Amino acid sequence: CGIVGVVGSKNTRDILMQGLEKLEYRGYDSAGIYVTDPTQDGKLIKSVGRIADLREKIGIDVAGTAGIGHTRWATHGKPSEKNAHPHTSSDARFVLVHNGVIENYLEIKNDYLANDSFNGETDTEIAVHLIAALVKNEGLSAFDAFQKALTIIKGSYAFALMDRTEPDVIYVAKNKSPLLIGLGDGYNMVCSDAMAMIRETSEFMEIHDKELVVLTKDLVEIHDAAGQSVSRDSYTAELDLSDIGKGTYPFYMLKEIDEQPTVMRKLSQVYADATGNVTVDSEITKSLIAADRLYIIAAGTSYNAGYASKFLLEELTEKPVELGIASEWGYNMPRLSEKPFFIFLSQSGETADSRQVLVKANELGIPSLTVTNVPGSTLSREANFTMLLHAGPEIAVASTKAYTAQIAALAFLAKAVGSEIKNGKAAKFDVVHELSIVAQSIEATLSEKALIESKVAGLLETTRNAFYIGRGQDYYVAMEASLKLKEISYIQCEGFAAGELKHGTIALIEENTPVLALISNNAKVSAHTRGNISEVVARGANVITIVEQDAAILGDDIIINNVHPYLSSISMVIPTQLIAYYASLHRGLDVDKPRNLAKSVTVE
Ligand code: G6P
Repeated sequence: CGIVGVVGSKNTRDILMQGLEKLEYRGYDSAGIYVTDPTQDGKLIKSVGRIADLREKIGIDVAGTAGIGHTRWATHGKPSEKNAHPHTSSDARFVLVHNGVIENYLEIKNDYLANDSFNGETDTEIAVHLIAALVKNEGLSAFDAFQKALTIIKGSYAFALMDRTEPDVIYVAKNKSPLLIGLGDGYNMVCSDAMAMIRETSEFMEIHDKELVVLTKDLVEIHDAAGQSVSRDSYTAELDLSDIGKGTYPFYMLKEIDEQPTVMRKLSQVYADATGNVTVDSEITKSLIAADRLYIIAAGTSYNAGYASKFLLEELTEKPVELGIASEWGYNMPRLSEKPFFIFLSQSGETADSRQVLVKANELGIPSLTVTNVPGSTLSREANFTMLLHAGPEIAVASTKAYTAQIAALAFLAKAVGSEIKNGKAAKFDVVHELSIVAQSIEATLSEKALIESKVAGLLETTRNAFYIGRGQDYYVAMEASLKLKEISYIQCEGFAAGELKHGTIALIEENTPVLALISNNAKVSAHTRGNISEVVARGANVITIVEQDAAILGDDIIINNVHPYLSSISMVIPTQLIAYYASLHRGLDVDKPRNLAKSVTVE
């Protein structure tokens, strides 16, 4: 979910609506705003569906100087107008938006709100009722009631609260859900991320967990959990407004796919000097070298990027690399080696599942590195070290350039460590040069969009299911390729180790089942993958082959220019991103905002 709030601006409605549009990647099943000023009673408008639906409903007669807004990704209660935020107390005095999950909401309902009735099924409604009950029953001020409510509520939250009796104040609090203050000229804002406010300001202030902030047009008052006031400097965010536009592209996803050669080159500028020497922070390499095993923890596409980087990291750092699904490891941490080093991969740096593991790692004193696209994000702040992806904002829900940037960034890390420990393979691996070849290979694939679209049109326009197969590195790419296709085309697609298919799943192959086979230049396995292709063809499958140049034979469908074997996942994934894109487009779907998903999932 996404939160935005502003106090002290005549443009409140527009700031809220533009902010919500920028936050739509966090969820878009329903949305709402509350707008007020000292001369009038506030207006609350909610709508099911996209921000565009809310905009239509709002019309032009909603003006005010303060307000809060929310775009929702349903956790408690299905998407509906009554479950949409903002929520109000029964007496309508308090208005609240919330991101996160209140774990003890049933207890709160029983202990404090036994006589209340509720409009919807959300945990948020309980929170706003609780605040009103504390005011009414204990005679507390809004501030004190909010503060007390925060000691009762267990779970994750980002809250923005308004009190109808004080229309020029917003109360704000957070715990384990992202939220920050934006400082305007004569007005102040609160939002889930800097991008939503960058049109208005580049000055931001962090809020730490368990803090409560009182926001007026010219005041930001921060209180810690004990009620002590805290002073904090603001910082300037280096976000470029032009980065968050779509330009002439029909969808962000296509723009972001096209940006990948630039991102590869940019990473070489950031992580190597002019002579090509790798310049990863020596504190990171030192800490990693002291470890006996590397653990990569991530979710979704970032998890797949971890697999794609495993071989390269193992080869050059000479350490075993283990992968962990963040949502599993938060609760079922496996037995660790004696000297573990954790690497968190996260485009957003905000994924609650990953953060949960990081909190545990910090408790255990395990050194950690976050590799993320978002400077100042929670995972970046809380890990010992950060490497940034420098990919520019990724807005399409389906991740593309962050995946390839993660592999490239880890290649620099692997090379830096390998050089330090005098690993022979690292000495021979010129990462800057190899990535420039990767950038060219990507460009070559991007110039074949028409060919790729024509393959998709025939095969994936109507099918219900599909398979990606590959071996070794290609299997890892198959995992990501199938996730991408599932996410935005809703085709049920599995990524399979090509040799494993015959051990069960081949039973699903029928006449015309699409099978997409990935074959990079690895002589040891390509012949075997060809064998697996024959097996599915014999059972009626419709096969598309995506093959690296040196492994290609007559009749292959999509040929990829050769790259260094350590980096083949980057070049091999590009056609699969385009395949997913065109499949979604040809099925008439919203490529950038697939159903049920959110780009940044800040609940566990
Ligand atoms: C969400 C998104 C996925 C993403 C995953 C991890 O589920 O829908 O596309 O891969 O989160 O996100 P992160 O920001 O941690 O890489």
